Amino acid sequence: MSVAPGPGVVDGLDAWRSLPARQQPLWPDPVAVEQVRSELSTLPPLVFAGEADVLTARLAAAGRGEAFLLQGGDCAETFVDATADNIRNKIKTILQMAVVLTYGASLPVIKMGRMAGQYAKPRSSDDETRDGVTLPAYRGDAVNGHPFTPEARIPDPRRLLDAYHRSTGTLNLIRAFTTGGFADLRRVHEWNRGFLANKAYSRYEETAGQIDRAIRFMAACGADFDALRTVEFFSSHEALLLDYERALTRIDSRTGNPYDCSAHFLWIGERTRQLDGAHVDFLSRVRNPIGVKLGPSTTADDALALMDRLNPSDVPGRLTFITRMGAGRIRDALPGLVDKVAASGRPVTWVCDPMHGNTISSASGYKTRRLGDVLDEVRGFFEVHRAIGSVPGGIHVELTGDDVTEVLGGSEEIDDAGLARRYETLVDPRLNHQQSLEMAFQVAEMIRGS
Ligand code: PEP
Ligand code: CO
Repeated sequence: MSVAPGPGVVDGLDAWRSLPARQQPLWPDPVAVEQVRSELSTLPPLVFAGEADVLTARLAAAGRGEAFLLQGGDCAETFVDATADNIRNKIKTILQMAVVLTYGASLPVIKMGRMAGQYAKPRSSDDETRDGVTLPAYRGDAVNGHPFTPEARIPDPRRLLDAYHRSTGTLNLIRAFTTGGFADLRRVHEWNRGFLANKAYSRYEETAGQIDRAIRFMAACGADFDALRTVEFFSSHEALLLDYERALTRIDSRTGNPYDCSAHFLWIGERTRQLDGAHVDFLSRVRNPIGVKLGPSTTADDALALMDRLNPSDVPGRLTFITRMGAGRIRDALPGLVDKVAASGRPVTWVCDPMHGNTISSASGYKTRRLGDVLDEVRGFFEVHRAIGSVPGGIHVELTGDDVTEVLGGSEEIDDAGLARRYETLVDPRLNHQQSLEMAFQVAEMIRGS
């Protein structure tokens, strides 16, 4: 793959610069930004075009009901938490969920982390005020620091380079874990047995018992092939900071097509999906598989117009709609969209984000979610798609592999007082390791229609 040509050399890759771009940091020093952009554009790509194409094919299968996407990770990764232990625990959690879902769906599960690049956040306000002091809002470690001090909150473009380097380290470890024996199906299943040793989860024993028998059956047949020992694992993040995404865009030497090589899959957030905006324009021009978040105000015409802009040639797997309606609204807000898109006959992969429409403030003031609401949104997602004859293609979840206490509920019954025990997220609340596995068992039941 070749290094990206300079601005304007490949037709249109810089057209976004003359369009309104929401949620971009106000960098105080334009010269420093230019230096960083030029440095990033000489660094090696994190992923290759061929890998992105494989993912497009996998997502096309999910769109047809022949695979199921599991996309998960932090709301916002942070530099200090990009440690071997944290990365391992997150991968482990996603792999454990994937085994349960694979069994439930009897389909291949596409495993994708909100990892190795999820360092920038859209915010509802540019500023934050505490005790009469107003400072720029925290926009993710790629932009500024979380501590509420003027020094930390000033956007610093050098952080884009740090984000790149953390992402390479994370992806390197992901590649090692998922191909080096750690991800062996039999081993992942043993971890799930450890989870079920806790009496709180006895209701999942039946499914676990069935998986156990299936694995022992395969072993008895002498099945021992690569597919049991290694897994494909893809990286993804919100394509928010266009200077970063543009600088990591490379031209595929096989085809001459541009790919955003910062991750396999990029998505456009609910706040930046304007049809005439910079984000839609930029992502319309790269060949990666991409997603768009759709909240409850989305109209069917918006969805069709996004398909025209982002996937005019109707490439299956190119475009994923990630709906995030809220448990209370999904059964009203989703059918209109799905109906019209299905009637168009054009390919889209539908994925459910049951997190971002279900954020609440607890009585004690924590930003949280209820596991019950999260699961109810997924249930509504399946109901709507099944009623229309459309395909529910996957789930998109904020989770961590650690025992944090950020989301209410679950068999361990985290309550409002419990949130204080270990609330660590800097932005949105994440399912912890146990809640993530519970979710997988329940979603597996939903997939099987029970
Ligand atoms: C997110 O995925 O963290 C996010 C900000 O989502 P949305 O764009 O759906 O609000
Ligand atoms: Co979030």
